[in-house]
Amino acid sequence: MSVRPAETEIVPALESTPLTALHENFAARVCEWQRAHGRHRLPWQKTGDPYRTWLSEIMLQQTQVSTVIPYYERFLERFPTIESLAAATQDEVMPYWAGLGYYARARNLHRCAQVIVASHGGRFPPTACEIAELPGIGRSTAAAIAAFSYGERTPILDGNVKRVFTRYFGVHGHPGVRAVEQRLWQLAETALDAAPPDLDMAAYTHGLMDLGSQVCKRGKPECGVCPLASDCVAKRLGLQQVLPEPKPRRTVPERSCAMLLLHHNDYVLLEKQPQPGLWGGLWSLPRFDTPDELADACRNQGITLSESQRMASFVHTFTHFRLHIEPWCVEAPAGIAETRPQQEWIPFTRLESVAMPAPVRGLMAALPAPQADALREGR
Ligand code: ADE
Repeated sequence: MSVRPAETEIVPALESTPLTALHENFAARVCEWQRAHGRHRLPWQKTGDPYRTWLSEIMLQQTQVSTVIPYYERFLERFPTIESLAAATQDEVMPYWAGLGYYARARNLHRCAQVIVASHGGRFPPTACEIAELPGIGRSTAAAIAAFSYGERTPILDGNVKRVFTRYFGVHGHPGVRAVEQRLWQLAETALDAAPPDLDMAAYTHGLMDLGSQVCKRGKPECGVCPLASDCVAKRLGLQQVLPEPKPRRTVPERSCAMLLLHHNDYVLLEKQPQPGLWGGLWSLPRFDTPDELADACRNQGITLSESQRMASFVHTFTHFRLHIEPWCVEAPAGIAETRPQQEWIPFTRLESVAMPAPVRGLMAALPAPQADALREGR
């Protein structure tokens, strides 16, 4: 999908604020806030153990801290080491995940433990880059493990942290769009580059996570207690409810056609749709790219259209496009034949049992009431 340039641009008002000024003290303020107001007693904090950190980070993906805590503790009681997890069968592991949801996380966790035991001597690789190579571990999770366990100076960017960066730096565009995400990683890197050399990576990383989940909340950010509020672009411009921007709505192509509802003596002309193709295998009305083509086809059959035969246009939405349909309801003169091999005159009485797309079936309501005589006599 192409990305509009504006989606990756910093908002214009920021032009007056050099980016470096926004980076200045960013990390120090986050750390200071974390020490005073962040969470410090979560069971996976300060263990310095990559296995525990990894387990908690995987469990915390898409799941709240309060839900995770009992699962984390039960899991570690049963699988206290990476070796014990690797030695278990998947059937032994799954009950300890039951209720947490997103079960691919548990399957990957188990597979990853086996890879670490088989290929890394049971020890977590020593850098975020190498950790990110393991199954089920993305860049941000790998960075969190390395920052918490080894103090590696590497940025994280999970969903909550994206919100902090998006608002603070005033980044437009949906963070799930590749170019926007790349921009956010870049800002996360430069914020870290501008930080003091003795930065406490665990405090900084946890500070960002806590700010994202406790203060810079999606619906109701608490800017009054945010340590970054004085320089936050979204706050300055009143864009807290605008940023981060939602997923862009897919623009679907618009197409149009004209349809001919041709009837005669209680019969209507239908056309079996070829497969594969639009409405493949169903019975539809003869379709033309334009009303002019429909008029030409009618003229070839000796029918001159009048405006009164035009029905109300409507739009039918398919997954990949929207079809504007202009239907024409025309009474055919006697003796008119099918013009395409897949066409057939169908009696009104059979219409109910004919497989038709819903919008076409709707058009059948425009057919005249059946004439009892004609039904009896046949066409
Ligand atoms: N969300 C993701 N990782 C987390 C952590 N380590 N502590 C609290 N919330 C988190």
